[in-house]
Amino acid sequence: MSVRVAFTTAKGERVEAEGEAGIPLLEVAQAAGMPLEGTCEGQMACSTCHVVIAREWFGKLVEASEEEEDMLDLAAGVQPTSRLSCQILLSDDLDGLEVSIPAESNDMSGF
Ligand code: FES
Repeated sequence: MSVRVAFTTAKGERVEAEGEAGIPLLEVAQAAGMPLEGTCEGQMACSTCHVVIAREWFGKLVEASEEEEDMLDLAAGVQPTSRLSCQILLSDDLDGLEVSIPAESNDMSGF
């Protein structure tokens, strides 16, 4: 079954996408044309894959690791429900997930 994800862009546009369970949210976002660089390809070294998860969905995600939290501290425009999209794998119970793309992205990979 594919998992549906709705993105809201920084401009407030809504973009619906789908991906197979087991693939990273980052991949779905990029396939849907979202401007997430994902520079480090999931190595938790860049934070360019930062997204904000809708409040009602945040609790359904597998909790962020300490490394992810540390990297999020460096991301621009972090919110209480911020996550790194490379660390979230789609699963059937995330069908309908709502994700916002932050306005600012800040590539920290050069530091
Ligand atoms: Fe670099 Fe997610 S792609 S932290």
